[in-house]
Amino acid sequence: MLHGRRILLVIAGGIAAYKSLELIRRLRERGAAVRCVMTAAAQRFVTPLAAQTLSADRVYTDLFSLTEENEMGHLRLSQEADLIVVAPATADLIAKLVAGLADDLASTVLIASDKPILLAPAMNTRMWANAATQANVALLEKRGVTRIGPEAGPLAEAESGVGRMAEPDAIANAVEAHFVAHAALRGRKALVTSGPTEEAIDPVRYIANRSSGKQGHAIAAALARLGADTVLVSGPTREADPPGVRVIHVRSAREMLAACEAQLPADVAVCAAAVADWRVETAAQKLKKKGAPPALKLVENPDILATVARAGNRRPRLVVGFAAETENLVAAAQEKRVKKGCDWILANDVSAASGVFGGGSNDVRLVDGRSVEAWGRLSKRDVGERLAARIAQFFDRKAAE
Ligand code: PMT
Repeated sequence: MLHGRRILLVIAGGIAAYKSLELIRRLRERGAAVRCVMTAAAQRFVTPLAAQTLSADRVYTDLFSLTEENEMGHLRLSQEADLIVVAPATADLIAKLVAGLADDLASTVLIASDKPILLAPAMNTRMWANAATQANVALLEKRGVTRIGPEAGPLAEAESGVGRMAEPDAIANAVEAHFVAHAALRGRKALVTSGPTEEAIDPVRYIANRSSGKQGHAIAAALARLGADTVLVSGPTREADPPGVRVIHVRSAREMLAACEAQLPADVAVCAAAVADWRVETAAQKLKKKGAPPALKLVENPDILATVARAGNRRPRLVVGFAAETENLVAAAQEKRVKKGCDWILANDVSAASGVFGGGSNDVRLVDGRSVEAWGRLSKRDVGERLAARIAQFFDRKAAE
């Protein structure tokens, strides 16, 4: 399945472009989001309108269009993809990629990208057999570009031979295989907390906070995409359950703690939830409005991060916390890391002006015992991706030790 995967499909100019329309459907049926770039030649075979209708997203065609560049610069087009699929990959576009030419949107996106590329070549059999094409493909493979096809069979112009683009289902399988092969956290169990907690005042009222769950959910989704068996313990949020993640819904801090403890041992825990530090000594009946306002007595909640980080032989190998601060960001985060016993802490500025609580982006600093690494402002999805990649790297290094 391809849930949550973002595919940038580059459609070049060949008759096989008609099969790319079917490929869009196949990828979307498997859960991927597909965004298309079409070359000028591709638009002679199929229309951008068809690709747009099937992908349910805007189709990009012009490097020099002010509107396109304004809405989605060519650099962002490739940066917002997990994989670039070129189908059909023509002899011309393959040669441009080898030479580093960038004279239209498709070639520029390919050159400007650091994302993995999968080619589905399609061309006349003699073009495929040509020494230049063969050398170009071999060179691209050396550079890490992967390929599916071409296949042998009937070609356009009543010819037959090797040159047919692989079938849409086979390309979709290759896309899935790519993600399985890159599932760096396969076999690892991840525990993530997310969202706010709700602490009851009486049977109808509660105190909570402004956490939306966006950050924690994005981290869980990214860990699952890297193959981790991921459990997300979430307070009440409006966020959809991330695909491929087991979600346990809780309300209070004490419920969250119980759910987390039941998931130990795990390989990694990431505590992104905004857990209420205090709960109210709950009234059994609804508080009545009479006389002076009631005084609420607050008692301290258990600390989930500190409990998980001190779970003895059930402690995850890597425990990651967040520090939500409004001043002295790094110093406060360093202090929290030591106090709570976690390995890494992601410091984020949650002052009202930062828009982090409930917003779509975050500006974190990864603090471990030795260094502070500023990631700059990123979408919460990208923070999730980056953290998941760092976690995968951590386990890689441990395995090599
Ligand atoms: O949900 P969003 O709208 O996307 O916003 C994301 C976020 C701002 C909530 C998130 O990025 C974040 O900073 N989460 C931690 C919020 C918080 O409670 O920070 P803290 O500094 O108070 O707590 C430090 C750490 O201890 C956190 O990992 C927290 O999960 C944990 N903690 C705190 C109290 C408690 N009783 N139990 C805990 O586990």
